[in-house]
Amino acid sequence: MRAALVLLSLLFSPLVSASEGAVSASDTIRLVRQDCGSCHGMSLQGGLGTPLTREALAGQSAEALAVIILHGKHGTAMPPWKSLLSATQAQWIAERLLEGFPEEKQP
Ligand code: HEC
Repeated sequence: MRAALVLLSLLFSPLVSASEGAVSASDTIRLVRQDCGSCHGMSLQGGLGTPLTREALAGQSAEALAVIILHGKHGTAMPPWKSLLSATQAQWIAERLLEGFPEEKQP
């Protein structure tokens, strides 16, 4: 149990900490809202791309979605993001999408 918690905090620390070089969660949220939103719709309800709402993705695993985010979907317009996103970020995005993606905080 404790090991799992340590693992979880290790997994998410690059995103939640503001330490140098780390990508913050709010930067990742902005990227998803803007770059992914250009195809999936600003509210992720779908456009050229399929909707990425909690309802639309229900039943899929975060791991499978993270693979699609990193490698794209061959034969479709879904591009690979591995040059821009780390595996940890892709997994984080996939998990947030499955819960209903957070809104961008207004400055
Ligand atoms: C150039 C347009 C485009 C951009 C930009 C884009 N996508 Fe996609 N995406 C698509 C299309 C089209 C599909 C549907 C592929 C298909 O027909 O199965 C898709 C599918 C997906 C799926 C699978 C959905 C499902 O129901 O299985 C996920 C997850 C996803 N995209 C996440 C993202 C994320 C996260 C980003 C930003 C990092 C992103 N996409 C950016 C076009 C795009």
